[in-house]
Amino acid sequence: MTMTYKNILSAKEEVSAKSGINIGIVTLNRPTVLNALNHELMEELVTALEEFDRDDSVRAIVLTGSERAFAAGADIKEMSDETTVSIMLKDRFATWDRIKNIKKPIIAAISGYALGGGCELTMMCDIIIASESAQFGQPEINIGVIPGAGGTQRMTRVLGKYKAMELILTGRPLLAREAYELGLVNKVVPVELYLEEAKAMAKEIAGKSPIAVRLAKEAVLKSFDGPLNEGLQFERKNFYMLFSSEDQKEGMKAFLEKRKATFTGK
Ligand code: CAA
Repeated sequence: MTMTYKNILSAKEEVSAKSGINIGIVTLNRPTVLNALNHELMEELVTALEEFDRDDSVRAIVLTGSERAFAAGADIKEMSDETTVSIMLKDRFATWDRIKNIKKPIIAAISGYALGGGCELTMMCDIIIASESAQFGQPEINIGVIPGAGGTQRMTRVLGKYKAMELILTGRPLLAREAYELGLVNKVVPVELYLEEAKAMAKEIAGKSPIAVRLAKEAVLKSFDGPLNEGLQFERKNFYMLFSSEDQKEGMKAFLEKRKATFTGK
C-alpha cells in the first residue's frame, strides 16, 4: 500500500534492475519551517519507517531532508504554550520511541541544519552521511529548555562528557568537518553527493543477508545502550542464532567455493 503524506515523502528505489530488492527513502518535507518536527510530521515519519520495516523487499532505509535543512528542531510554535502537565499528558516523545524499534538500518543523509530534535533524530539513525554544509547542534538552551528527545544521552555517548557539555550548554553547533573529526558522522561529502552517497551505502547493505544485518544492528545498539557484559552475551546469542539461517550456510559455502553468495533472507 502506498500512503500519501502531508509532511514527508516516501519512496522505494530498486537496488539494481529487476533485483526485487529495494531501499526505502523518507524525505522530511515541511520546507517553509525548515522541516520543524511537529507531531503530525513525526507520526507520518514513524508510519513510513514502520511500513518499510514490514516490507520484505526493503533492506535499508535512507532518511533525509532538504539541502538547506534536515530539520531545525521540534516545532517551537507547537510547543510554546505547553505546560508541564499538558506536555506530559500528550507524551509526544512516545512517537519518537517507536523509531528505536525499527529493525532495518536507517542511514541519515544530512545537509544544512540538524538542530535540536533534528540532531536528536539524526543520532537515532544508524549511519550518518553529511554534506559539507551540514551543521549539528542542540540549541535548546537558547530558548530556555534542554534537549528532550535523547540529545543529552546520545550526544554524550558519542562525543564524551566535555564536548557534549560544551555543545549542550552553549548551544553552539558543530560544522560538518568538526562533527566528522569528533566521530558524530561517518562521512562528509560535497552537497551534490550526500544523498547519492547515503543511497549507495544503503544499497551496499541491502545486498547482505537481511537476517545478519538485523541481528548485527541489534547487537551494536545493545553495546550502545547497556553494560559491556550484557552486550557481549547478547552478541554471542545473535551470532549463534545465525547458524540456523540458510544465509549462513550459503554465505560460508560461497566463500569456500570462491563465488558471490546469493542471500535469500531465510
Ligand atoms: N520550529 C518552528 N519553526 C521553525 C523552527 C522550529 N524549530 N526553526 C525554524 N522555523 C521557522 C521559522 O520560524 C521561520 O518561519 P517564518 O518564515 O514563518 O518566520 C522559518 O522556519 C525559517 O526560519 P528562519 O527565518 O529563522 O531561518 P534562518 O535561516 O534565519 O535561521 C535557524 C535558521 C538558525 C535554523 C533558525 O530558524 C533557528 O534558530 N531555528 C530554531 C532552532 C532551535 O532552537 N531548535 C530547537 C527546537 S526545540 C527542540 O528541538 C526540543 C527537542 O529536544 C525535541
